[in-house]
Amino acid sequence: MRRFPSLLWMGLGVAGLLIFTPASGFADSGSELYTANCAKCHGADGHADTPVGKAMKVPPLATPKWAADDDTDALIAAFHANPKHKAVASKVTDDDLRAIAVHVRALAAAK
Ligand code: HEC
Repeated sequence: MRRFPSLLWMGLGVAGLLIFTPASGFADSGSELYTANCAKCHGADGHADTPVGKAMKVPPLATPKWAADDDTDALIAAFHANPKHKAVASKVTDDDLRAIAVHVRALAAAK
């Protein structure tokens, strides 16, 4: 059974390769990351129209404020500045957040 852990790591490595294949484009991974980490509170469409969003008075992200091209850093800073993001912040990297910001801009532009 000593071989089991290394097999597990190999499996994880293969899964990692599959996740990071070029086929899953930048924008796509942004939307997936957003859905997995932000949609529960901020809503799938960025309008925070969810039970949790309403209960916590979550602000919408699909607004002109986040539509501008150079707002990636501002969005990441606003995310980190907020203690309500403590749980989710441990699950996303700044690279993830940059991809998410691209998706948020798409949501903001859709309105
Ligand atoms: C547990 C619910 C929750 C989750 C999950 C969540 N947020 Fe938030 N978010 C909030 C709340 C609540 C606020 C407003 C807090 C306040 O101002 O008091 C907020 C505010 C923000 C703001 C500032 C909005 C503004 O107009 O100032 C940004 C940007 C933001 N969130 C981005 C994100 C991103 C990106 C994710 C996913 C990686 C995310 N949030 C996940 C609850 C959440």
